[in-house]
Amino acid sequence: MFDSGFGGLTVARALIDLLPAEHLVYVGDTGRYPYGPRPLTEVRHFALQITDLLIRQHDVKLVIVACNTAAAAGLADLQTAVDVPVVGVIEPGVRSLAKVTRTGRAGVIGTVGTIGSGAYQRAVAALAPELELICAACPGFVEFVERGETRSEQVSILAERLLAPLRDAKVDALLLGCTHYPFLARTISDAIGREVVLVSSADETAFEVRELLEGTALARSPAAGPASHRWLSSGDVGWFRELGRQLLGPELDEATPITWP
Ligand code: DGL
Repeated sequence: MFDSGFGGLTVARALIDLLPAEHLVYVGDTGRYPYGPRPLTEVRHFALQITDLLIRQHDVKLVIVACNTAAAAGLADLQTAVDVPVVGVIEPGVRSLAKVTRTGRAGVIGTVGTIGSGAYQRAVAALAPELELICAACPGFVEFVERGETRSEQVSILAERLLAPLRDAKVDALLLGCTHYPFLARTISDAIGREVVLVSSADETAFEVRELLEGTALARSPAAGPASHRWLSSGDVGWFRELGRQLLGPELDEATPITWP
């Protein structure tokens, strides 16, 4: 599993809880975050590079792109480039959103790269064409999470400003289309209105992985012993361990550095 930084830990939590027997290798590309403002071609290159590392050095049997920006930039390319199944977070998120909205008027927020790519608009057209989707980019949110600042006056002021169009549009459900955003859920909820249901793709992605593994030779049996969790970071590993442990929980007990050529 990989993300630009700490955001994918929301998906890691859901996966560990749902599939506790599975080993997990997590790459947080904190040395190159944020992905959101970068050109999609560059993010696609990073995604291919990390996927290659996971397969060659860690022999993973399945890759989860726990980053909406990377999934928007290159999920289809990754799926054709490698021999193992590759799961993204965009389609699972749209399926959850469609289940939750009552009025059919729903919002999605994400990075500039994700929203600008049109990936959510395409996924809704394919999976839930009855939905009226209102999209907004939220530049700056990811940086607050990476600093560990999930509740502050500054992040609240930014949320009020960025979410005003969605509040005015009276959406009844809001998809958090960036894996960092669940860490800002309280701030986002305060800004958009507590009556709006927030939807994260983490659980639905974990269910999709379970469906892929269940009943196949790929699934790991709980009888095979405790699962191992490996945490890799391309940035400050001390910070990755410290903030990562606060955000994910005790499974994140150490972090290993990785470098890019
Ligand atoms: N968690 C990533 C996502 O889901 C954040 C991307 C970034 O680094 O800007 O899009």
